[in-house]
Amino acid sequence: MADKEVVETSEAQIAVHWKEEECVYPSKEFINQANVKDETVYKRFDLDNFPECFTEYADLLHWDKSWDTILDTSDAPCWKWFVGGRINACYNCVDRHLEKNKNKTAIHFVPEPENERVQHITYQELYVQVNELAALLQDFAGLKAGDTVTLHLPMTAELPITMLACARLGVIHSEVFGGFSGRACADRIEDAKSRVLITIDGYYRSGKLIDHKQNADIAVDLAKKDGQKVDKVLIWQRYPGKNSTPTPMIEGRDYIINDLLKDYRGKKVDPVPMPAEDPLFLMYTSGTTGKPKGCQHSTGGYLAYVAGTSKYIQDIHPEDVYWCMADIGWITGHSYIVYGPLSLCASSVIYEGVPTYPDAGRAWRIAEELDVNIFHTAPTVIRALRKIDPDLPKKYNHHFKHMTTVGEPIEPQVWRWYHEVVGKGEAVIVDTWWQTETGGFLCGTVPAIKPMKPGSTGPGVPGIYPIIYDEEGNEIKAGEGRAGNICIKNPWPGAFQTIWRDRDRYVSTYYARYCKDKNSKDWRDWPYLTGDAAMEAEDGYYRILGRIDDVINVSGHRLGTKEIESAALTVMEVAEAAVVPVADDIKGVVPDLYISLKPGYEPTDELAMKISAGICDTIGKIARPRKVWLVSDMPKTRSGKIMRRVLGAISNKKDVGDVSTLANPEIVDEIQKKVSG
Ligand code: PRX
Repeated sequence: MADKEVVETSEAQIAVHWKEEECVYPSKEFINQANVKDETVYKRFDLDNFPECFTEYADLLHWDKSWDTILDTSDAPCWKWFVGGRINACYNCVDRHLEKNKNKTAIHFVPEPENERVQHITYQELYVQVNELAALLQDFAGLKAGDTVTLHLPMTAELPITMLACARLGVIHSEVFGGFSGRACADRIEDAKSRVLITIDGYYRSGKLIDHKQNADIAVDLAKKDGQKVDKVLIWQRYPGKNSTPTPMIEGRDYIINDLLKDYRGKKVDPVPMPAEDPLFLMYTSGTTGKPKGCQHSTGGYLAYVAGTSKYIQDIHPEDVYWCMADIGWITGHSYIVYGPLSLCASSVIYEGVPTYPDAGRAWRIAEELDVNIFHTAPTVIRALRKIDPDLPKKYNHHFKHMTTVGEPIEPQVWRWYHEVVGKGEAVIVDTWWQTETGGFLCGTVPAIKPMKPGSTGPGVPGIYPIIYDEEGNEIKAGEGRAGNICIKNPWPGAFQTIWRDRDRYVSTYYARYCKDKNSKDWRDWPYLTGDAAMEAEDGYYRILGRIDDVINVSGHRLGTKEIESAALTVMEVAEAAVVPVADDIKGVVPDLYISLKPGYEPTDELAMKISAGICDTIGKIARPRKVWLVSDMPKTRSGKIMRRVLGAISNKKDVGDVSTLANPEIVDEIQKKVSG
């Protein structure tokens, strides 16, 4: 794989230049109030106590029926947790808090327009709204346990309300990130086989009221062409009672949820006790081929894992005001805005817009107003805010006890700014490393026990045992100073169960690489391949170096290079497309796109713009290339493979190395001249 070579070059460089950072210790104040301050937690979650240790997390929840088997490995490597148990995720996130906390805020919804007041939704109100919607989904949309439904919702309170209403019925929700295009939504509707789409008319982003309804029309049309008919499109109104989209409604297909709800006022639906192993939701993520993978997450194991890690790693107490500034359309939002914090009865903040609207002080004003004390975001946001005005957070009077970072490696100097300026030196930072597939954290520090090391994620969280293998499957030990493929030795309850309707791809992508015996039913023979490269320091802290497959991580979001290339190839004039990752100050990595045209077409700026727009239409703006380079030919091997490694070196202004063995070495010079201007 050519992309792999690019990453390996940079890994090697990081490995050579890597210097150990000084550790930073949590304050006494933090330790005194922490949920976990007892070092025996690591002992309790020792491999000798596996898998029983994870009942400590399951016991945080209400079970309608207790499990018979903690871990069933009979269908290896599709691990089954808490088998025989029955549980409802919505009941655990809503109903069970009513007795003591019905008046407490469950969700603070912060609209992007600053003149709109924050909406504080109590657990009682959430209970009422979720029940009414569940009744509507059941009666009007005919949805029942085991059905799938696609959500294409942005960051408003309607998104968790919809997820929880589905969970109440045992309906599998598949939320598509609101910023994704109608095309991307269609692919996910088709794969999930949803016949209902739930969306919203509009929402605010960067000061503009976006027409979101138009994406639903595109998605439904394209899904139909791909063979999946959507019967009903259910549409929330951004402003109840008012229409916020110019796109017309389609009679007999489109329905306004806010209108329908009038018939369901005060209706209650009993939460369905779901088998622990039944899926709670699907979350699509990019892989090495163009087709996104529907990661299937379980109900019982998943909820236990996100509740446990929210309590132990995020240190969430019921009295905390917790703000994770991710989007619920990604796994971070599912696990650590909705299911984790709400299962612990915290108050979770949902902010509609961009962190820099109307200015870079917005986040700190929200934190001040709501008295947020746990804050969670991604390095790309931290870099952007630091670049705009590194002193700005000092002007605000917010105070965090705990901050998290997630999604991509954070540079030590950015980490220090986050700690000293955003956290005012008071907050602990946990650098949480994990993935869509893993449901919850893999590495990170138990914050009152382990010191922080800028730029390193930390050791495995309790119950997670990472191991690094080289290409031959030999273990690379702590302190060796070499990078390799980081895997997880053991199963854990938060892990996805399979790729939706594609078990073979699940096994081959994640478990085949280092499997010791493919007939084995023993989990010890099936290390989980994360697809990341990492190094382990002598003290057992891991430094994550990035992806080893052809996936690039833009602003903490995984995009398949093949997915972007396929989108480019839908433009009629394009003959070949190659995407390479380029280092970027703010976003970490951005895609550069190289294009060769079919004969007879002229390379023009308009054409480059058309290709770029085509990618935004197909995937979403998040995939917009930094540059579209129209070249007369691609550097190729003699067997005709595009050498992405060479293109990557050119884009990153690095040495291209020896190109004499290429089929067309002269093209390298030509492209280099073009790119360096
Ligand atoms: O490469 C790792 C990077 O993000 C990938 C997972 O992306 P996704 O499935 O979209 O989930 C993002 C949120 C969990 C990983 O394979 N990554 C995630 N967290 C970190 C990270 N890289 C370094 N440090 C992290 N803390």
